Amino acid sequence: RPLVVAIDGPSGSGKSSVSKEVARRLRLAYLDTGAMYRALTWYCVTHGIELNDAAAVEQAARDLVLELSTSPQEDYVRVDGVDVTDAIREPAISSAVSAVATTLGARTELIRRQRELIEKHHRRMVVEGRDITTVVAPGAEVRMLLTASEEARLRRRGIQLGGTQDAEQLAAQVTHRDAKDSTVVNFTKAASGVVTLDSSDLDFDQTVNAALVIVTK
Ligand code: CDP
Repeated sequence: RPLVVAIDGPSGSGKSSVSKEVARRLRLAYLDTGAMYRALTWYCVTHGIELNDAAAVEQAARDLVLELSTSPQEDYVRVDGVDVTDAIREPAISSAVSAVATTLGARTELIRRQRELIEKHHRRMVVEGRDITTVVAPGAEVRMLLTASEEARLRRRGIQLGGTQDAEQLAAQVTHRDAKDSTVVNFTKAASGVVTLDSSDLDFDQTVNAALVIVTK
């Protein structure tokens, strides 16, 4: 029986950790589409591809030799056989990723790959990102928007990054990136049929449980 759980949300909403745990509990495959945009960004930066050059970024998306984990138990991302699991989380990639993600031709190619991966897993997968409920898998059995107040999101991302950043740096990484991203994908408001889960006042376990209630309803 197919069970695609589409989860969208902004940075710091707890999307990745919650999605992964939901996949574990339900024994579903897991796809972090953000990791794909990050991997493409790493590839462009490494190959000196101009991020404003839409045609070049689009070509890079087609050329990208990408392997990524589709299991919630494992975390690996490889580009051309090189392990980039940690490298794609570096601040330099975080600040460049929106430029790549707003290149429509590159999105088309990554969306095609995402749909292919969903099919490959017989449509039994938790898929998280920014445009999953609306573009990648609008026909998903479960569609959820995981939100949190800006304050909660900044706090979580700050903890995740080791608490070494000042408020201004964090805002630059989180709020500014969301603003850029939302020029092409709207993940700030739930589309029709999408359930909103606000995690501002919930801890991790409570958020996972609330998500599981939505899935099994
Ligand atoms: O770090 P965070 O969890 O907020 O982001 P991510 O899920 O790793 O995604 C990184 C970036 O990829 C986002 O800032 C977007 O620019 C882009 N992205 C996207 O455009 N569409 C998606 N479905 C997923 C990510």
